[in-house]
Amino acid sequence: MRLDNKVALVTGAAMGIGAAIAERFVEAGAAVVVFDINAERARQMAQGLSRNGRALAIHGDVAREEDVQNAVARTVEELGSLDVLVNNAGIEVVGQVVDLPSTDWDRQLGVNLKGVFLFCKYAIPHMRGRGGAIVNISSVHAFVSYAGTAAYDASKSGMLGLTRALALDHGREGIRANAICPGYISAAMMDEWLALQPDPEATLKQVLSFHPLGRIGTPRDVADAALFLASDAASFISGTYLVVDGAMTAAGH
Ligand SMILES: NC(=O)c1ccc[n+]([C@@H]2O[C@H](COP(=O)([O-])OP(=O)(O)OC[C@H]3O[C@@H](n4cnc5c(N)ncnc54)[C@H](O)[C@@H]3O)[C@@H](O)[C@H]2O)c1
Repeated sequence: MRLDNKVALVTGAAMGIGAAIAERFVEAGAAVVVFDINAERARQMAQGLSRNGRALAIHGDVAREEDVQNAVARTVEELGSLDVLVNNAGIEVVGQVVDLPSTDWDRQLGVNLKGVFLFCKYAIPHMRGRGGAIVNISSVHAFVSYAGTAAYDASKSGMLGLTRALALDHGREGIRANAICPGYISAAMMDEWLALQPDPEATLKQVLSFHPLGRIGTPRDVADAALFLASDAASFISGTYLVVDGAMTAAGH
């Protein structure tokens, strides 16, 4: 599973799962763009990655069209192409529909869904004919709902529909599109969710008990799956999703 001579752009790559994907891709030989709304962390991340390969930090918001347009243009200008796009940046707003301000709904869908649309819109023209791989980081929330995450669930389900449509519309142009549905992964998003629980320690214990593999996932687990789907090892895989959850949903959780 190599990405030699490939250029990959990973959104939300300053920390968590995105950072692990960026790291894994550099190890596999790719030049990587660390795109993130957190400029300082993105700069530090790219600086660290540059010790082992080629990396570039680009600051921006996935939900802002001009930021996305600029990021894709800079990637092609400075690194020569755009072969792999990982739409990883995401946020999670919590609340039941009746309590959720519509501005929170817009923010949730803006980052998690419109952000994917925008990056695909501007990246695909550079992949056409020469091949490309798109990996969208969805969630098990795409098909299993937990209490109080309606907008997040809608955004992650939407990503699967968008992934299928991309695979269909651009397959003949040599572009593959797939999604990854991670379960519980030990990163900031999970820590924040745990901190909101009445008894975080008891909740963590319960979450662990949901996993037949006996542990929670790591960002590296997701990064390995992303590398597989981005690489030629997955050259006949498109329009589908890979669940990375330690058999949690298979066990009915
Ligand atoms: N952690 C989990 O348990 C888990 C499980 C399933 C799916 N996911 C998904 O994986 C992805 C990454 O999650 P994580 O846990 O690593 O999150 P995280 O909060 O640790 O990191 C998210 C990164 O995205 C960046 N970001 C946020 N909004 C942005 C925006 N508008 N534009 C650009 N960058 C932005 C943040 O600055 C941060 O660097 C998300 O899409 C999340 O929904 C996470």
